[in-house]
Amino acid sequence: MDNRLRGKIASEAVRLRIKRDVEQIIQQGNRPPHLAAILVGNDGASQSYVNAKEKACEDVGFLSSIYRLPENLSQNDLLDRIDKINKDDQIDGLIVQLPLPAHIDENVVNSRISPDKDVDGFHDINMGRLAKGNAVINPATPYGILLLLEHYNLSVEGKHVVVLGRSNIVGRPLSILLSGNHAFGNATVTLCHSRTKNLKEWCQKADILIAAIGKPYFVTADMVKEEAIVIDVGTTRIDADNERGWKLAGDVNYTEVKEKASAITPVPGGVGPMTITGLLSNTLLVRKKRLEQNTSA
Ligand code: GUN
Repeated sequence: MDNRLRGKIASEAVRLRIKRDVEQIIQQGNRPPHLAAILVGNDGASQSYVNAKEKACEDVGFLSSIYRLPENLSQNDLLDRIDKINKDDQIDGLIVQLPLPAHIDENVVNSRISPDKDVDGFHDINMGRLAKGNAVINPATPYGILLLLEHYNLSVEGKHVVVLGRSNIVGRPLSILLSGNHAFGNATVTLCHSRTKNLKEWCQKADILIAAIGKPYFVTADMVKEEAIVIDVGTTRIDADNERGWKLAGDVNYTEVKEKASAITPVPGGVGPMTITGLLSNTLLVRKKRLEQNTSA
């Protein structure tokens, strides 16, 4: 039985729709959406993500610009760069790849990006809108997970969703989104974290279990209810006996959990591609908004 939720396939479907919208924008005599990404330092995983984002932009017909900046860049220099991009009419969306070097304050940086260009949805204003149920931009990974569920016609309404991990990038915004009063919301959400007592019992109660803690193979079959839907957001690089010397490990012990789950995302090929698709969707949305408002070149 193939019970995989294949992010690659769902992504292709969504990206095809994005590509068509881009073609229409161009036909109407407008510039295509343009995403800028700032990468500070040489973290291998971050470089791969940014490269993948660049390629995805090309594939759907977006313009993209990547600013690769040195590890020892000062916070002020980074903020100056963000200010310039904020003012640049030729750029619709901006992300700063995380994590940042320790001497740079992520919160300050995220809230320097113009909320209108913040296609990661990490700005305080966008997080606040999300919390109040008026999100304009949904953070890319949570949004990608919703798009994946939508693609497979899996409604979360009335279901008990257990989210493991309360990060600002995934767990917290995802718990807010899934519990919201909107299509692909209306779930009952339990947000578990490192201080949760009886974690295994909570997991066993989940109709939908979403793991976003960055601990390879943490979720085992005994933690999962029969026929549950399992979403694995983990992407930790672990040593492997291959050419690269590493492989991606999810938070779920896939081999044993797949026997019990009704549907499950593999790693890689599950949530990963959807994250980028969420980002592309946000960038298109921002572009369309700017065209409507006539505020862009
Ligand atoms: N690092 C890990 N996930 C993300 C993400 O969604 N956006 C950014 N900017 N950095 C990340």
